[in-house]
Amino acid sequence: MSVARMPQVLDRRLALELAQITERAAVSAASLRGRGDEQAADLAAMAATYRELSEMAILGEVVIGEGEEGETEHLFVGEALGAGGDAVDLAVDALEGSTLCAKNMEGSISVLALAERGSLLKVPDAYMEKLAIGPGYPEGIVSLSRSPQENIEALAEAKGVPATDICALILDRPRHGPLIEAVRKTGAAIKLITDGDVAGVIHTTNPDDSGIDIYLGLGGAAEGVLAAAALRCIGGQMEGRLVLDTEKKRAQAKALGIRDGAKIYKLEEMVRGDCLVAATGVTDGALLKGVRFGRTVIETDTIVMRAATGTVRRITTEHRDFRKFHLDEVL
Ligand code: FBP
Repeated sequence: MSVARMPQVLDRRLALELAQITERAAVSAASLRGRGDEQAADLAAMAATYRELSEMAILGEVVIGEGEEGETEHLFVGEALGAGGDAVDLAVDALEGSTLCAKNMEGSISVLALAERGSLLKVPDAYMEKLAIGPGYPEGIVSLSRSPQENIEALAEAKGVPATDICALILDRPRHGPLIEAVRKTGAAIKLITDGDVAGVIHTTNPDDSGIDIYLGLGGAAEGVLAAAALRCIGGQMEGRLVLDTEKKRAQAKALGIRDGAKIYKLEEMVRGDCLVAATGVTDGALLKGVRFGRTVIETDTIVMRAATGTVRRITTEHRDFRKFHLDEVL
C-alpha cells in the first residue's frame, strides 16, 4: 500500500543522533528512578539533552521546551542550540512523566522531535484538549467539534465493532469526570493513566498491541505538539484545542501569534512539515522498556520515527562505555 508522504527535507541520519540523545537523557533520569525526586530526575535528563543538542550539527531553536526563558537554565522556549548546520525547530521533553520516574512507575520516557524550521506550532504554557486515533480510518470521522459519544460511536462504526469493543485512554484527573462519564455511557471501556500522554497518544497507532483505539482529554499543550510530531510520522489523526482559561495564557497565546484561541488544530497544523522523533524508555512501559543497568552493560530501548517516509525503527542498544552518560555528575 502506498501512502502520500510529505517531501523529505531532513537528513535521515539526524534520526540516529536524536536516538543517541534520548538514550543519554533516559539513562540519566533512570539513574534516579524511584528516588521520589521528580525535579532531580528532570534536571538530570535535561542536562544530558542540553549537552548533546549543543554538540549536534544543527542550528536549532527550541520551540517546545522545558519552560520559558528565566524559568529554566537551558532548553527554554526560544533558546538557540546546536553547533551549526541546518536551521530546525526542536521539541524537547527530556523526561516526560517525571512523577512516574520518581515513583518508578510504568511509562516515563525521554522524547525529542526535530522539525523543519518554522513548522512546529508554538503554544503557551497551557492545557490542550486532545483527541487522537490511529491510522486506517477515513479522514475526519472523529473531531473535537463533536461530543465524546458521537466520536466513540463513529469510531466503532468505522472499525466495524460495537462501541463496547472500543477502548479510550484518558488521564486520570478530576477534570475528566464528565468526559469519563460520557464515554462510559456509550459502553466503551476506559483505560486510565496517571501521567504520560505523549506515549498515550502514540498507543492509538497500534490498537492491536496497545488495546487503545482513541485518546481523549486535556493534557499539556507542549506534550500535544510532541505527540502530534509522532503521529505525523506513524500516521493517524489528531486534533488539539488550547485551553486558554486565564488572561495570562490568552496574552501568551496572542504573543505567539494565535488569533483564534478556540481554534481546533489538525495534526498538519501542529506539525507543518518534515520531522523526526525519538523516544527512549526510562521506566518500563507498554511502548518502551525502561533502562536496564547491568554490571557491564546499560541497555536502552528507543523508537525513532521519520515523517518523510513513515519509517519507525526500534533500537535496542547495549552501551559499554558508561563515561558518555556522566553519571558521576548525576548521582
Ligand atoms: P511532566 O513529565 O511534565 O510531569 O508531565 C506529565 C504529564 O502527565 C503529561 O504527560 C501530561 O500532558 C501532563 O502531565 C498533564 O498535566 P497535569 O498533571 O497537570 O494534569
